[in-house]
Amino acid sequence: MSNLKTTFAGLELKNPIIAASCNRTNSVEHIQELANAGVGAVVLKSLFEENIVKQTDSYIDDSTYTEGLDYLQLYLKNHALDEYITLIKGCKAACDIPIIASINCWNIGEWVEFAKLIEEAGADAFELNIMSVQTEIDYVYGSYEQTHVDILREIRKAVKLPIIIKLGSNLTNPVSLTYRLKAEGANAVVMFNRMYQTDIDVYKLDYVPGHVLSSEQDLALPLRWIGIASGKVNSIDYALSGGVHSPEDIVKAILVGASAVEICSVLYQEGNAWIGKALEMIGEWQDKLSYLGIEEYKGKFSCKHQEGEERFNRTQFLKYFESFQK
Ligand SMILES: Cc1cc2nc3c(=O)[nH]c(=O)nc-3n(C[C@H](O)[C@H](O)[C@H](O)COP(=O)(O)O)c2cc1C
Repeated sequence: MSNLKTTFAGLELKNPIIAASCNRTNSVEHIQELANAGVGAVVLKSLFEENIVKQTDSYIDDSTYTEGLDYLQLYLKNHALDEYITLIKGCKAACDIPIIASINCWNIGEWVEFAKLIEEAGADAFELNIMSVQTEIDYVYGSYEQTHVDILREIRKAVKLPIIIKLGSNLTNPVSLTYRLKAEGANAVVMFNRMYQTDIDVYKLDYVPGHVLSSEQDLALPLRWIGIASGKVNSIDYALSGGVHSPEDIVKAILVGASAVEICSVLYQEGNAWIGKALEMIGEWQDKLSYLGIEEYKGKFSCKHQEGEERFNRTQFLKYFESFQK
């Protein structure tokens, strides 16, 4: 088969398909199955700051005294961390693909210490998942972006592992943030995490979860931003996440400048067998176009090339309005 090797965040991957962080990457058994199905790497289910805080809250009543609360918080954090470390060690023992640990945090707090322990446990890289929604009425513009930089700076000081930042799509300018993150020592960015979607059932008159899984329409947004960012900020790697539903979508991600894709929804919908079929198709596509490997076409359609800049920067439909009629 054609050569599908790639490097991402300093890791050598046998192919560009990474299983994204989700409930299918939360046990050694699941990860072994993904490795057997052929993925190039796996991002473990995130260790969530929110979960630890919520868990602590559920034990608190008015009588909980402060010292007791501190102890409880520490116990729950250590417990969650112990489980995570066991998961990393188990995956490393069972699989020969890179294992990327993922932490979700919005405060730096104890994560620096945790990061050191995760590094010692043998993870190959860290993915920091910092996405959150900014709703404060006195929000200072730019402070959300600055949080990314501050968290990265502290974790970078503590560990030598490659650090990947998984961004949310709620950023004004992901290009300038990527530039700052690169300067602070990030090895890669992922564009983008998927936000929980809320919907309303108008008959039950209640909130309901919106679409949990993505669709192929979601691909356009990360394609655009990786196309722009990879053309402007180099020496940092990109992975596309969001809306990859066909092997061709992986080729598109590479064409705009990604070194890898992180896939989730398609695994829920099609199962792990999809991975092998996708790899086969990409190999056939490379052969058909006489490409010997990914590096030969990576970034060919970023904003640096052809009419990329004009295409990706376009926001209005002006010149399409006339021809677009029913
Ligand atoms: C059920 C589910 C759980 C997820 N859990 C996490 C998580 O723990 N950490 C994270 O960074 N992303 C998480 N994600 C986001 C995915 O990793 C991925 O970035 C997103 O779904 C977009 O990729 P897709 O279009 O291939 O689904 C989750 C997604 C789903 C659907």
